[in-house]
Amino acid sequence: MLKTNITEMFGIKFPIFSAPMGPFHTEKVAAAVSEAGGLGVLAHVGLIGENPVSVMKENMKYVVEHTDKPFGFNIRTGRIEQYWYDKLVTEIPEFIMDNPKIKEQCIYAVTSAGSSRILPQSKAFQKLKNVSPIKHFHVAPAFWLAEKCVKYGVDGLCVTGYEGGGHQSYEGVGGIVLLNQVQQAFPDIPKIAAGGIATGIQLAAVLSMGYGGVVMGTRFIASEECGFPQEYKQLTIDAQAKDTVILRGQLANIRLYNNDYAKSHQVIVTKEEKIAYEQSLSQEQAIENALAYDKLYEGDIVNTAIPMGQSTGLIHDIKEVTSIIETVMKDAENSIKNTIKLFR
Ligand SMILES: Cc1cc2nc3c(=O)[nH]c(=O)nc-3n(C[C@H](O)[C@H](O)[C@H](O)COP(=O)(O)O)c2cc1C
Repeated sequence: MLKTNITEMFGIKFPIFSAPMGPFHTEKVAAAVSEAGGLGVLAHVGLIGENPVSVMKENMKYVVEHTDKPFGFNIRTGRIEQYWYDKLVTEIPEFIMDNPKIKEQCIYAVTSAGSSRILPQSKAFQKLKNVSPIKHFHVAPAFWLAEKCVKYGVDGLCVTGYEGGGHQSYEGVGGIVLLNQVQQAFPDIPKIAAGGIATGIQLAAVLSMGYGGVVMGTRFIASEECGFPQEYKQLTIDAQAKDTVILRGQLANIRLYNNDYAKSHQVIVTKEEKIAYEQSLSQEQAIENALAYDKLYEGDIVNTAIPMGQSTGLIHDIKEVTSIIETVMKDAENSIKNTIKLFR
């Protein structure tokens, strides 16, 4: 049994978190991961026509109906999502306060893609923190961002290497260096590692680097319980590590499967260009961009944006969540034991 500062902090059996994978729904896989002894995380959902606040509330109800164990949720605090994050950081903590079972189980809030200050500044979240053990982590895909998060007083960091699926930093530093940099600078702050992680060997590696757990996104897409379309799941098995690409186009700096969509959307190179682009967007264009995700959710894997980590190269089967977690834990423990033997 591997006990870490993170398993202790959250009272979980295994140091494994499922990634929040918005704009898609992750309630099914999150509930399964929590029930299996890890910590499942609800995404900030945002498919066209959906209200992210109502969906988050429904998803929280879903999780507590399917497990009695701890879980968490994500809010993206990026510039272009201000309308919804303003509502989420107030209404979700209030909703948690009003629902005793959710209050007992929802003990992890992870913000990402923008400032780490947005959630802690919310009066509703401050009130919740006074009566709940809930911890606030922020995603740090770059060293400067980790420094900022620590300065602003997060409870912990989710440090994400460039190998990961979904949005990435403009600096492009891989996990083996970034995780080490953050550990060198902040050895005492609780940290979980993300980005390209799908195996027990990687869990063993990041534990030895000072991390108390891992987040897996792409690995959990390839699970029976994940609600994503079958075509998407199958692609995480068929694709190899070399088949993802960082798209610096309309959807921002994001790691996607390198299909026709990705190949035809490499337009923007710098962060400044991206901000200028966002400001020039008409509402119709913004909707068209967002539709690239919706079409994927309907099963189109050619003309759509498919977030995927390089971890895809390590995934060879679609399995039940319990089986994924068991394998990762067994392999991590074996890896640690074998390494120790080498030095006897
Ligand atoms: C389909 C997909 C959607 C994602 N959406 C979000 C999101 O809404 N918020 C977020 O913080 N991270 C998001 N991410 C990043 C994940 O939280 C995590 O950092 C990433 O999946 C780790 O890399 P891996 O896929 O190789 O495990 C997304 C990743 C994927 C694959």
